[in-house]
Amino acid sequence: MSIYLSIIYLIATVTFIVGLKNLGHPATAKKGNLISALGMGLAIVGTIVLTENEISPIIYGLIIGAIVVGGIIGWVIAMKVEMTKMPELVSLFNGFGGASALLIGLVEFNKNIGVAEADKASAAIISTIISAIIIGSITFTGSLVAWAKLNGSMKDLRLPKYNLINNILFLILLAFAVYIVLIGSDSSLLIYVLLVASLVYGYLFVAPIGGADMPVVISLLNSLTGIAAAITGILYGNMVMLVGGILVGSAGLILTFAMCKAMNRSLASVIFGAFGGAEAVGTSTGKSGGTIKKTTASDAAVLLNYSTNVVIVPGYGLAVAQAQHVIHELEELLTKKGVSVKYAIHPVAGRMPGHMNVLLAESNVDYDKLVEMDDINPQFPNTDVVLVVGANDVVNPAAHNDPSSPIYGMPILDVENAKHIIVNKRSMNVGYAGIENELFFNQKTNMLFGDAKDALTKLVAELKNM
Ligand code: TAP
Repeated sequence: MSIYLSIIYLIATVTFIVGLKNLGHPATAKKGNLISALGMGLAIVGTIVLTENEISPIIYGLIIGAIVVGGIIGWVIAMKVEMTKMPELVSLFNGFGGASALLIGLVEFNKNIGVAEADKASAAIISTIISAIIIGSITFTGSLVAWAKLNGSMKDLRLPKYNLINNILFLILLAFAVYIVLIGSDSSLLIYVLLVASLVYGYLFVAPIGGADMPVVISLLNSLTGIAAAITGILYGNMVMLVGGILVGSAGLILTFAMCKAMNRSLASVIFGAFGGAEAVGTSTGKSGGTIKKTTASDAAVLLNYSTNVVIVPGYGLAVAQAQHVIHELEELLTKKGVSVKYAIHPVAGRMPGHMNVLLAESNVDYDKLVEMDDINPQFPNTDVVLVVGANDVVNPAAHNDPSSPIYGMPILDVENAKHIIVNKRSMNVGYAGIENELFFNQKTNMLFGDAKDALTKLVAELKNM
């Protein structure tokens, strides 16, 4: 490799790390994305221009053609995609990453077929190629299944004893891979059998997982894409692919575990448990015999108007209702009236990492007004009114009080400590975890029933008249 290419790879590697650091805060995330993309662009151009391999003009044409066509498709999709459809898009991109790794694996394996014994790849290289094929295939079909589930075109599929079947298939897959390496096989039939088995496993692995658990699974598949890229980096002795893959792999894993921790669930229970299917969302009503207090938009407006400080807790329902613009209008109106307004952000509110941040950024809410759970919790006792909009599990005190609850131990926003609580949702239906919320029966709670957009619009109208 030329010294110039090594320098370019080093610069690209630095931009990945700087970009990743910038992605850690909403205010710098855009810049971070751009820095990393520029680094990746530089690495691609450098690889094509400065390669020491003989490349025919036809191959150059094909590479440039593929980059142009892929770039245009990617650009159009990214410009058009709605924020709430982002997990679907990420899933699709993961799938393509996996497909690339498996194709590279196949190409490299085929180079080994029919060559003299002395020219054959070592067992270590064959193991690397086979790992790329297995991980790439699992990521490919797994991501396509995740994408299909998120866009509603596929339902959860749970065969009887699906966990047992999947685990046995995985062990057979591993044993078969070891067999191919040990016998030093260069049979393309065996490698295609392994490929098909891996593709089937990717499908069976994701098919039973509940639709609402998909963000965790997508993050895990994202991490697998990184590992597959790192493996192909090893194959080609390409430092930038290796580092890029390791960064994606580790960032994906960190995000996966952060989400599991914030939901108080183990990764095993996401992968092997049937909890949290999409159908759990809002399908059953609460059973408690407690009484609730209903309120109206005009009464809620009076309470908000005469407060000194208000904390808004956005949740999944805000995203469903697309009420992010009207909530910003409400916040600005209250601020003009001299009320201090903040948003309390739970790490897993909504259905995707950073869902509430993305949603509120769409309506240009000031980042400084978004306060993380650990920082806002001590402030609730001094909060006059908490306005919960379309959130349920993330404010459920059962997480503290009820050891039998599936969310017991999950960190929540302690809104029950505020002086007054207004909860907006459409009914007494449960949230993602499928459990009743005792907050709604709290003496301090007033339920403002209705679709978030409608209810907040009425609230804004009432406040404007005061
Ligand atoms: P949820 O607990 O799911 O509750 C959302 C509530 O919004 C529902 O109870 C629903 O009640 C209400 N709602 C739905 N549509 C509405 C509308 N148009 N207007 C007003 N309200 C509406 O949401 P959450 O509190 O944000 O908690 C998130 C849950 O998802 C957690 O359990 C979390 O573990 C899980 N989860 C999160 C993620 C990530 S990464 N964020 C990933 C997977 C799972 P009604 O039907 O009565 O209106």
